[in-house]
Amino acid sequence: MLYVQHHAWSILLRLYHWCFALSIVALVTTGLYINAPWTNTMIEGSSSFPMATMRYIHFIAGFVFTGAILARLYLLFFGNKQERFWDFLPVTPKNIKNVFETLKLYSYISDKGDHRIGHNVLAGTIYGLTFLAAAAQLTSGFYMLYPESLAWQGWGLMLFGTQQEARFIHHLLMWYFILFAVAHLYLVIWNDVKTKEGLVSSIFNGTKYEPKKL
Ligand code: HEM
Ligand code: HEM
Repeated sequence: MLYVQHHAWSILLRLYHWCFALSIVALVTTGLYINAPWTNTMIEGSSSFPMATMRYIHFIAGFVFTGAILARLYLLFFGNKQERFWDFLPVTPKNIKNVFETLKLYSYISDKGDHRIGHNVLAGTIYGLTFLAAAAQLTSGFYMLYPESLAWQGWGLMLFGTQQEARFIHHLLMWYFILFAVAHLYLVIWNDVKTKEGLVSSIFNGTKYEPKKL
């Protein structure tokens, strides 16, 4: 089989992906610790500062996470064709058709698949929702981090209510990210095995392959 090579992802998209993915690993680990510390907290402030250290790592990772989201916001409008929202959200008849084609492929009803250089639109829709969840996560995070800031108070009170309510939503959203990561890993590997487009390596080197019609 012959394949045509396509440049799918810019360097900024790939950098954003890995900053986002790795910061989430750090945020989930430290977030779980902040919620229920697994070390003896009696040592806090004497021989070491485990809670302070975990919170510090959480906030540094929180800033990396926020930077990644800002980079993605820029790419939604100014990225290459595959990176703009128009390409991967169900906003055109062709994209809506792709959602159904992908569902048929995923449920083993059809074996055809609909080749795309960018994300399939089912994945793209979930990525869009993940972006919104990330915006809510960072808003609740900064609301808790800077409770005295009038700007964060305004957003926080409007979207979540009290600090405690924001903290609860922040915690629930963590479980969304954990579930997303598990499903995401399963699906990208499944797609890589099934469609032979070089999907997994594309998030490292930016290149995808399309079977050439002879
Ligand atoms: C996917 C991203 C994130 C996850 C999974 C996450 C997870 C968590 C969790 C589980 C907690 C403990 C809340 C609880 O259950 O008691 C927490 C606390 C907190 N997070 Fe996040 N977080 C994320 C992003 C952020 C961001 C972007 C910021 C902004 C800097 C942030 C700032 C905070 C703050 C200020 C607290 C409260 C710490 C404290 O009360 O000591 N988080 N986070
Ligand atoms: C070893 C781990 C990972 C690998 C190999 C990987 C691989 C990939 C691949 C191949 C894509 C493009 C898929 C497509 O076209 O639909 C992608 C996209 C994406 N991944 Fe991952 N991923 C990993 C971990 C994660 C984690 C932990 C997260 C966050 C929880 C994440 C979030 C995303 C998001 C949000 C996108 C969409 C990118 C965009 O905004 O355009 N990934 N990933």
